[in-house]
Amino acid sequence: SIKQPGNADTEVLIVEEQEIRLSFQKKGVVPDPRILIPAFQEMECYDDDIFICAYPKCGTHWVWEMCQMIIKGKAEYHSKAKESCMIEFHLPEEYKDEPRPRIFNTHFTPVCLPKQAVEKKSKFILLHRNPKDIVTSLYHHMIKTKFNVDSETTWHQFLQYILQNDREVSSNWFFYNKKWAEFAASNDLDVLVMNYEDLKIDTVSCLSKLADFIGYPRDEKMLQEISEKCTVNKMRDAEKERDSGTVVVNSEQISFLYRKGVVGDWKNQFTVAENEQFDAHLKENMNGDQLNFKYEI
Ligand code: A3P
Repeated sequence: SIKQPGNADTEVLIVEEQEIRLSFQKKGVVPDPRILIPAFQEMECYDDDIFICAYPKCGTHWVWEMCQMIIKGKAEYHSKAKESCMIEFHLPEEYKDEPRPRIFNTHFTPVCLPKQAVEKKSKFILLHRNPKDIVTSLYHHMIKTKFNVDSETTWHQFLQYILQNDREVSSNWFFYNKKWAEFAASNDLDVLVMNYEDLKIDTVSCLSKLADFIGYPRDEKMLQEISEKCTVNKMRDAEKERDSGTVVVNSEQISFLYRKGVVGDWKNQFTVAENEQFDAHLKENMNGDQLNFKYEI
């Protein structure tokens, strides 16, 4: 049986989605979440559907691109951007003609996902990353896109906002992880957990696990080719050519999706005091829950 949280939870998430999608909604690009989320919960799914689920800035673009290359059997970029399969951006009927296996990605908590994805044993990939690197990455993304912050927002102000963000919503990293941990524990999911840091350390062996998991085992040579095609620099160039995921700053085209692509950049961002504050916050808020990252914090 599927244990999905009740309507009250959905309502909270809908309110949050409305908040964080406001600027997109104004442009009319994103469907109204009050329609989108219920539609997704009822969407028809298949056992070969793949759902890449991650809090923002965990490397979703990277994993999505690697998945589609594995399936295609070619180290070739997808003609569309990852956002074309991001469930926050499209209504379910838009995926009807998507070739199978479909590769979705999402930052939603599990309550928003299709019930059939669990029933039909679709494949879930849960992606984690050190939260300090996530927050660092998120800040740079927000500043470049002026998304939910203004360009004068300092790093310190942003960090304080994140740390005070104790609302029960999907943009709260703690809430997001708690919901996923509960969901995975209470449902018999077909799930692969991956870490950004492992992907950086040994991309090819992660690719091999990923390929086996999605049912497309590939030889070492192919995985090596995919790994080389998927460096952050090459993916950034490809994104610029596709003219998506970029903003123009001082007449220069800058990617807000592909930045440094390294492990531990938080050390260039946090002061010693901020780091201590973050550690204390982590300790207090994880309540002894298992941490979803295993790398030095
Ligand atoms: P940084 O801002 O730390 O560089 P997402 O795709 O979930 O939005 O995550 C974006 C983060 O993953 C960014 O982190 C981005 O640079 C990094 N990333 C994207 N593609 C990558 C790749 N091919 N290799 C390493 N890191 C990558």
